[in-house]
Amino acid sequence: MKFGYFDDAAQEYVITTPRTPLPWINYLGNKDFFSLISNTGGGYSFYKDAKLLRLTRYRYNSVPYDSNGKYFYIQDSDTVWNPAWQPTKTELDSYECRHGLGYSRFTASKNGVRSELLSFVPLNDTCEIQRIVLTNEGSEAKSLRLYSYVEWCLWNASDDCENFQRNLSTGEVEIEGSVIYHKTEYRERRNHYAVRAVNVPVDGFDTIRSEFIGFYNGPDAPQAILDGGCTGSVCSGWSPIAAQQINVDLEPGQSRSFIFVLAYIENPENEKWAEGTQPRDGIINKVRAKELLARYQTDEQVEGVFTELKSYWKELLKKYTLRSSNDKVNRMVNIWNQYQCMITFNMSRSASYYESGIGRGMGFRDSCQDLLGFVHLIPERARERIIDIASTQFQNGSAYHQYQPLTKKGNAGIGSGFNDDPLWLIAAVSAYTRETGDYSILDEIVPFDNDMSVAQPLMEHLKRSLDFTVTHKGPHGLPLIGRADWNDCLNLNCFSEHPGESFQTFGPSEGPVAESVFIGGMFVKYGEEYAQLAEIHGDRDEADRARAEVEKMNEAVCTAGWDGEWFVRAYDAYGNKVGSHECEDGQIYIEPQGFCVLAGCGVKEGLADKALSSVEKLLDTKYGICILYPAYKSYHLELGEISSYPPGYKENGGIFCHNNPWVSIAETVCGHGDRAFEVYKKTCPAYTEEISEIHRTEPYVYCQMVAGKEAKYFGEGKNSWLTGTAAWTFCDISQYILGIMPTHKGLSIDPCIPSDFGDFEIDRTFRGVVYHIHVTNPEHVQKGVRQLLADGVMIDGNVIPFSPDKKEVDVQVVMG
Ligand code: GLC
Ligand code: GLC
Repeated sequence: MKFGYFDDAAQEYVITTPRTPLPWINYLGNKDFFSLISNTGGGYSFYKDAKLLRLTRYRYNSVPYDSNGKYFYIQDSDTVWNPAWQPTKTELDSYECRHGLGYSRFTASKNGVRSELLSFVPLNDTCEIQRIVLTNEGSEAKSLRLYSYVEWCLWNASDDCENFQRNLSTGEVEIEGSVIYHKTEYRERRNHYAVRAVNVPVDGFDTIRSEFIGFYNGPDAPQAILDGGCTGSVCSGWSPIAAQQINVDLEPGQSRSFIFVLAYIENPENEKWAEGTQPRDGIINKVRAKELLARYQTDEQVEGVFTELKSYWKELLKKYTLRSSNDKVNRMVNIWNQYQCMITFNMSRSASYYESGIGRGMGFRDSCQDLLGFVHLIPERARERIIDIASTQFQNGSAYHQYQPLTKKGNAGIGSGFNDDPLWLIAAVSAYTRETGDYSILDEIVPFDNDMSVAQPLMEHLKRSLDFTVTHKGPHGLPLIGRADWNDCLNLNCFSEHPGESFQTFGPSEGPVAESVFIGGMFVKYGEEYAQLAEIHGDRDEADRARAEVEKMNEAVCTAGWDGEWFVRAYDAYGNKVGSHECEDGQIYIEPQGFCVLAGCGVKEGLADKALSSVEKLLDTKYGICILYPAYKSYHLELGEISSYPPGYKENGGIFCHNNPWVSIAETVCGHGDRAFEVYKKTCPAYTEEISEIHRTEPYVYCQMVAGKEAKYFGEGKNSWLTGTAAWTFCDISQYILGIMPTHKGLSIDPCIPSDFGDFEIDRTFRGVVYHIHVTNPEHVQKGVRQLLADGVMIDGNVIPFSPDKKEVDVQVVMG
């Protein structure tokens, strides 16, 4: 069952009922100012950091589920309704929500009044614009009241929901005409404030929550609206809000438009206070706010910046464009998958409807992987990000597992010791340099743990990444796992026995024995990518040394890491196998099958094919491939968090979408185009849209996990948006299945498609040159290029050498 449809021409998903199975959200903002917005008007805004600079309040995990937003109310006689249905949930005569690229539009009507609400964050300002147009579609004149309502968060979102003894006494605002300034804590150490404004005179306002909402009501029934209007309350302490009232008279057929702005303003330290006033007067300097607001006074101004935003996305997405006979794949590749890659790049795992914004900040491994699907879009931002990430690495090559986006400092609470982290840095730098040919980044001087006095060139960081694994091996010659590897919940050194202890950081966390076959696979792949970088950097000896280490690791993976029919997952702290036929539960895990095979381990020897058939036999389901089987039925002290989840959920046997593309990629490495695509399809949102009532999460983006075959609610998706699945599925479909991959020497063309996929065309911008690629497949093979022509010249092999003097290249590919 569907709750909407794709409008590909408009690059939008159209939701046709507010009653979706979960909030279906969108992200507004590309750089510094962000808003989350649901299809019923819920959500919140922040500047740069969802934890440290939160503008508006949200009530996570609340009842009803999606609680708080930047709401509008329309009062028409006795009826009060909302343009996006919540919070009054007054039945609407019509409703439509269109989520587009960086904007959302809501069209609703009630009793002859139509409202069109457009929300977006302009490209170059730190604000969200909400333009609402009301039209009287009836035959009688209407006297309406329009109210807007936002609840301020007292900046630090974590402190905001804990420290009430202080916070209920700090709230402060200033009100000037139609503008409400939220200036809590500005009197002391902050030099920023928030603004809520509208471009017309208001007929009333409130800034005390209990005066507007009423002490015994919720936002679904604001007392002030029921009582006939705002009260003009001026907050001092408690919970500051910004509510505004506009009386709107509309003749039949008449429309009026209102432009609301929510902005974040920062003043230099020496310009904090209004000119000619003293700090003790407490009057904030509003010059910057007024300048910003002046840019959004008219419809023409709003339409101007909105058009800019739309063209920005159109241009950006042109960098990889597919034309094939498969609409579902076209729309994922051309629109939604790339869009989600931008969002995961911006947010890492910080702020979604399932990540509270106060938890995890930017993940080291997460951000490195997000970059793999983003780097072709805006390479300069990927470059900056690499430097930020590498700056949180330690001198011994290990790294902080997370850092805060505002401070860019490693998060000491979680620390380091996730032994896959260092190798992901190599993956990111390799992807960046292959995409751009910018090798100067390798010589960039980058600090360790943000300490410039011990800074080294980035290439040295990569060496330490590599050597961290080389010097941290266990009894089988496999990498030590540390606190966990990619699978955060496989905690082989922690032994947590009491509730509340962190599964990852409790106990010794390090040990001399527990080993990861998965990191072994990673080392084989990224060790080779490191060797290529070393060679390009002019250090052939270093490349040889790395390749010798890779060879050793490959040997260990294919012997100690091989279980007979599939790759072992790990060895635990007692030296017992995890993910082996010898185990009662958790006999086979997906990660080493996907990653070791995509790294090339055991391909020649036939192990790879065996591992992949075991995956198909034991882990595959109609909704995707489970992470392990059988799921753990009881808690295993020696395994940790993985066995804490009921069978079939999350890392305990869920379909973890992130590593499904690893298997799909592995299938392409073995030349199995049909199967690679079948795996791709199972978790692909454009395909799962059909079963939205089961799947529940947004049908235009990937979610982290779908409940596995052993779960009570098999097929139910969870944790949409912020998942490495976005980047990996984009790599899978764009580089492996459709087969257009950047390499150091040039663009490699080697599709591995289903035999019935048909011919297709791709426009790919690579290092500023546009490649128009036409692929034909007359014999319906799954892999193999029989002929490759670039501008009419026959190419030997699969790689079109890069020639910077060209602007466009015509590429003809014949498979066979
Ligand atoms: C989450 C984490 C990611 C981890 C994965 C598996 O998605 O963000 O870092 O690899 O779970 O545990
Ligand atoms: C990952 C896992 C999650 C775990 C968290 C801890 O995100 O998916 O289950 O609690 O890591 O870091």
